[in-house]
Amino acid sequence: MSEQPLFKVTIDNITVEVPAGTTILNAARKIGGDVAPPAMCYYSKLEGSGGKCRTCLVEVSKGSEKDPRPMPKLVASCRTTVMDGMEVKNITSDRVIDARNGVVEFLLINHPLDCPVCDQAGECHLQDLSYEHGKAGTRYEFQRRTFKKHDLGDKIQLHMTRCILCYRCVFTADQLTGKREHGVLDRGDHAEIATYIEKNLDNEFIGNVIDVCPVGALTDKTFRFKNRVWFLKPVDAHRDCPTCSGKVTLWNRGDEVYRVTARKDQWGEVEDWICNTCRFDKKQTSDWVIEGPRLIDRHSVIAQGHYAGTVGTHKPTETFEAVHAGRQPKLLMDIHSVSEVNQADITLSKLDRPAHSTDFKNNKD
Ligand code: SF4
Ligand code: FES
Repeated sequence: MSEQPLFKVTIDNITVEVPAGTTILNAARKIGGDVAPPAMCYYSKLEGSGGKCRTCLVEVSKGSEKDPRPMPKLVASCRTTVMDGMEVKNITSDRVIDARNGVVEFLLINHPLDCPVCDQAGECHLQDLSYEHGKAGTRYEFQRRTFKKHDLGDKIQLHMTRCILCYRCVFTADQLTGKREHGVLDRGDHAEIATYIEKNLDNEFIGNVIDVCPVGALTDKTFRFKNRVWFLKPVDAHRDCPTCSGKVTLWNRGDEVYRVTARKDQWGEVEDWICNTCRFDKKQTSDWVIEGPRLIDRHSVIAQGHYAGTVGTHKPTETFEAVHAGRQPKLLMDIHSVSEVNQADITLSKLDRPAHSTDFKNNKD
């Protein structure tokens, strides 16, 4: 079998060798850091994804060794394959930065600015992108899109106004479940996902659409309004699951499990798809074998909490028993009675509904 030829490509003055057929985006990811363009719709685990959002635009300043002419227009790096000797500019190109600012402005035309109440805040790719490329004001004077409400059952919440039509959830449903679950209906200003999704929510893997959604359009109802992600500590855990790999990240506060998600890599992509039972029904620490703190690679607000520090962070050994001659710890303090957050008699993570204002301390009377 002949070996695949390696192509040399230079991105932002850094040269890397990749097999023929690699996209510019994946070549840039091989270099890593800021050289890798942002990607709102491409998802390496989903076949056919990419080419929708244009956030990954780059400038090709030299086409190849054989034909060194630059490409006249910026290209979507997730859909353009490298050529031998190609030279690409990402953050070193003013044209790219200017275009990316424009793309973000377009994405925000219809996306509501409801980050303060959105469950995705703190881990939203559009929020990150807006901080880097957004403007404080808007030039848009028209009414934003509104939609008929779709009820996706008691586990998944759809906010169509937040959707950026990246199609990731459509591909996820299509490719994980083996049958068509839902799609993007209509076109242009009227385009929306859903309709058929209501009919197919019984699928064991449908919860993964929550993890692939780059914004807060699809969120976990069992976690809704219960906590902000930056107050939670992510830990890796696993269980012996007959349906999926059982490898997840738990989002805990104290010993309470508030949310269960799939583990995500440094590009924010799911490592292993998880089933609905692991995601929605296993909310006790006793359901899981804890492995240790989750390393959050992305420059997200969660990582800013410095909870999961550097590579090689280990779960500390339990010292209480050791220093108390094997005695088990007694409950020293009930966080709910002193936290001033939620009512002492209400455990937010155990509510089988979204939390609302009456569950919080200042709103009892
Ligand atoms: S709901 Fe989320 S994942 Fe689905 S198309 Fe919209 S933004 Fe993408
Ligand atoms: S990530 Fe390339 S177009 Fe969306």
